[in-house]
Amino acid sequence: MLIKDVFFENTNEKVDILIKDGKFEKIGPNLSIPEGVEVINCDGAMVLPQFIESHVHLDSALTAGDPRWNLSGTLFEGIAVWAERKEKLTKKDVMDRARNAIRKQAANGIGHVRTHVDVTDPTLIGLEGLLELKDELKDEVNVQIVAFPQEGIMSYPNGRQLMENAVKMGVDVIGAIPHFEFTREYGVESINYIMELAEKYEKLVDVHCDEIDDEQSRFVEVLAARAYESGLGSRVTASHTTAMHSYNNAYAYKLFRLFRMSKMNFIANPLVNTHLQGRFDTYPKRRGVTRVKELLADGINVSFGHDDISDPWYPLGDGNMRDVVHLGLHVCQMMGYEEILESHKLITHNAAKTLNLGDTYAIKEGNAASFIVLNSDNFYNALNEKKEVLYNFTKGKLIAKTDPGKKIALF
Ligand code: FE2
Repeated sequence: MLIKDVFFENTNEKVDILIKDGKFEKIGPNLSIPEGVEVINCDGAMVLPQFIESHVHLDSALTAGDPRWNLSGTLFEGIAVWAERKEKLTKKDVMDRARNAIRKQAANGIGHVRTHVDVTDPTLIGLEGLLELKDELKDEVNVQIVAFPQEGIMSYPNGRQLMENAVKMGVDVIGAIPHFEFTREYGVESINYIMELAEKYEKLVDVHCDEIDDEQSRFVEVLAARAYESGLGSRVTASHTTAMHSYNNAYAYKLFRLFRMSKMNFIANPLVNTHLQGRFDTYPKRRGVTRVKELLADGINVSFGHDDISDPWYPLGDGNMRDVVHLGLHVCQMMGYEEILESHKLITHNAAKTLNLGDTYAIKEGNAASFIVLNSDNFYNALNEKKEVLYNFTKGKLIAKTDPGKKIALF
């Protein structure tokens, strides 16, 4: 197959891409068309690596309103509603909803998904379902699964054993939720516990860290210190870190040195955290998003996640990462031209680093032909004009496409 006439990753360089046996065979300008090869003429659209969803909860996706709506809009009511919904879980229920959510994601250009799955459930049914789905969809979408203890590790009956069982069942990543544990000490202990587990089983780490508007919630320093001391570094991720929004600047300044040393990744979830955070504020209301602009300026890796797709924590969403970027740029005041132009990195290359995808993610000769074609010449215009993802390819196989409609003013 020959992909003809595309702008290469946000540059002015126009190339053709020849794909053979599921790999990028040749990339360059004006390639000759080998006999019998299918040609897709892209007419100046743009090619990018597939979008990455680096933080989502697929086990709870598409359950909003069941068994009831979260009316306070707080994280805590979300956890309470989910605890009720969890009692009705079956493997089929989890697999059907997660598959639907992944299909929405693929249609929006996503090819890699890191999903958390709640393992504070003695049956581990959600995990079982997602592991089976991961295998079912392995030729379409790469799914990374995080063992996520929604109700705590130290604060949940048999929490430690459930975590280790989940790891043995085959998760890729180990999670924690230190700010939700009963005590600060339990929180620290939970981080120590999962870091040992990660070393023992050679897993990645992704912690729901300080997702609270409490400026005293300081587990991110513990996680960063352990990432540094253990040498796990870039295999570790701190998700949310919304309390950092409320830290005093002197403490944040001190932290940033440790973050740089640790090489840890960060994930912000602007859609969901602008909705969930600040709920105990009157006015002014905090934005509830971590210091994305400052982290990036300090050379620290940050990506964006959708977090929730129509579930007890967030009533909207159809798996479109560009909605996340669009809002995130506003909330984080990253509205300079270059910041907008390069913002795809928050859902492409930066996220690839977080997922530890390595060199295989890049669009280059010899790599698996996984990429998208966006109906625009660059990402600034694509974001602004909400341009379609025309094609989404995984290893040379077309997994989703859009037939663009036209908006025409009749005057
Ligand atoms: Fe989350």
